[in-house]
Amino acid sequence: MLDLSVRAKTTISLIKADVGSVAGHHRVHPRQIEVARDCLERSKKDGTLLDYYVFNCGDDLELLMTHRLGENNSTIHGLAWNTFKEVTEKVSKPLRLYAAGQDLLVEAFSGNVKGMGPGVAEMEIEERVAEPIVAFAADKTEPGAFSLPLYRIFADPTSCAGLVIDPAMHEGFTFRVFDVVESKTVDLACPTELYDLLALTGTTSRYVIEKIFRTRDKLIAAAASTTRLSLISGRYVGKDDPCMIVRCQHGLPAVGEVLQPFGFPHLVAGFMRGSHIGPLMPVGLDNARCTFFDGPPRVVALGFNLTDGRLIGFGDEPADLFADVAFDRARDVANDVSDYVRRHGEFMPARLGPEEMEYTTLPSVLERLKPRFKPAS
Ligand code: F6R
Ligand code: MG
Ligand code: MG
Repeated sequence: MLDLSVRAKTTISLIKADVGSVAGHHRVHPRQIEVARDCLERSKKDGTLLDYYVFNCGDDLELLMTHRLGENNSTIHGLAWNTFKEVTEKVSKPLRLYAAGQDLLVEAFSGNVKGMGPGVAEMEIEERVAEPIVAFAADKTEPGAFSLPLYRIFADPTSCAGLVIDPAMHEGFTFRVFDVVESKTVDLACPTELYDLLALTGTTSRYVIEKIFRTRDKLIAAAASTTRLSLISGRYVGKDDPCMIVRCQHGLPAVGEVLQPFGFPHLVAGFMRGSHIGPLMPVGLDNARCTFFDGPPRVVALGFNLTDGRLIGFGDEPADLFADVAFDRARDVANDVSDYVRRHGEFMPARLGPEEMEYTTLPSVLERLKPRFKPAS
């Protein structure tokens, strides 16, 4: 029998915030995860959520939620906001965790968490017969950290075999690039506009990839968070650690094509005090914690199958994809690269340029030395 019922669309919302952590900016406390779970469980019971999974990457609390309410929905954003608030009030403050409530930048919620501190990656989809997705979250870096892997996954034929040999992907993908300074977006269809894509996104601090669509039918394939906390608050409040959702398989990059680019621990901005460069280390959930020079920056990848909004993994747990031994070498390289860059101390490029540093004493040093600067002879 043909199923002629109209299948409702599913929205996947991954919303994250740093609301405090144990031992500095190291790691979320298990009790914070429990309280967040309780909040989302209540919303699942009352029918607001179809399903959810709470996890952390370093000091960032990540709420992966599925529902029928679409993107930028005030009920869902309000739920995330109230969850972060409740975790802050019930756990971060009483335990006096470090930087309690750090990313809740405003007092009152006004309908959408974008621009209020938390990071958001969202997509509304029509579920395919089987819908494999991967949720990514990174700590001690910024949204531009995902640009190189996203380029490799969706535009680089030397990395993603499907671009070359899967007829469904052969027309390529369209990248929506967000200018974080001017708050504007531009759509670039690759491979035709590949050089323009690289011209922009090579400037990782300014042009970041917000969404990716399959060009031939506009199917949404990826959504990433693009928040820049420093631009929201006008002062340093912690790096805007990013998250993203990627759909995989059957005319989209295979899970293995999506993961492979992270086998190269590329240099990203962030690390100590959000003011240095370091390698992005792919890790399983157990190792999603920053230590060495508050790093090296970490990324986790959690795989699920989405079935009528349910997040199917192994029992209550997802496929913890970077926990695999196949990423051991990337971790070794990341450790070697961390040692190497740290031997530069505070000399560029190990330290970011003055315009990108989240902490700086430079203006006060210059002010103090002003009377002592003499015209060069
Ligand atoms: C970077 C980060 C940490 C802190 C550092 C200093 O994103 O969160 O590296 O910047 O630990 O933190 P404070 O100033 O809170 O002592
Ligand atoms: Mg923190
Ligand atoms: Mg963080």
